Amino acid sequence: MRNKIVAGNWKMNLMPSEGEVLVRDVLKESLALKYNQSVIFCPPATHLMAVKKVMTELEVSETNYMLGAQNASHKLSGAHTGEISPEMLKNIGVRCVIVGHSERRSMYHESPEDLKKKVDTLLSENMICIFCCGEPLAVREAEAHMEYVEKQIEESLFHLKGEGLSNKIILAYEPIWAIGTGKTASAEQAEEMHAFIRSVLAKKWGSDVADDISILYGGSVKGENAAELFSCENVDGGLVGGASLNPNAFLDVIKALKD
Ligand code: 13P
Repeated sequence: MRNKIVAGNWKMNLMPSEGEVLVRDVLKESLALKYNQSVIFCPPATHLMAVKKVMTELEVSETNYMLGAQNASHKLSGAHTGEISPEMLKNIGVRCVIVGHSERRSMYHESPEDLKKKVDTLLSENMICIFCCGEPLAVREAEAHMEYVEKQIEESLFHLKGEGLSNKIILAYEPIWAIGTGKTASAEQAEEMHAFIRSVLAKKWGSDVADDISILYGGSVKGENAAELFSCENVDGGLVGGASLNPNAFLDVIKALKD
């Protein structure tokens, strides 16, 4: 059975001390809820150790709470000024890394080939890859969003073997027109795309594998719309930007995932 997950992508926001307070506030309340879903915190790299410290202090379960990074090098070590290797992240307690976020694809020119290498390096370190896909507005308006997303998945993931894949990959569908815009995909639009993505995975690796892979929705998720989105059969949770920066707003999204 696939996991229900809420992941918070803080992007380049908050100071380390603010992040520490945020995680402590979220954990205190979410631990008391005793839900069975997973929560992933993806702070900036400078905050990872402080966040990990809070998670350790509060003795969170490793299955239900994970520390994630927003980026990692595709290299294991060496002369790569400014980069951080997956092994270094793993060493400080990071379990998963976001790959293929639209902001990195567009602003930092990460190509499908670059993403493929990142995926491979992460999996070689037994880390989990949160792989993002999603179309820009013009593509949606041209009704070419299905082919667009299928190509993104094909280009960077189709070289992988299906065995054990659900423990290695989490997919996140983030339509670019819904990111940070306050404009969420409707539950129908999200479900249509998520069901399509699952069919793409099933065509490649079989339905047993596809049925076990969590597919998160991202793009202006907040307390007000999360429950409806998460009630869709193929939406297994959310990748949350803005609403993950405030403890109450993030908790509202976590609570919406109650099964
Ligand atoms: P918002 O929730 O701020 O729209 O951001 C979504 C996102 O990009 C998460 O990775």
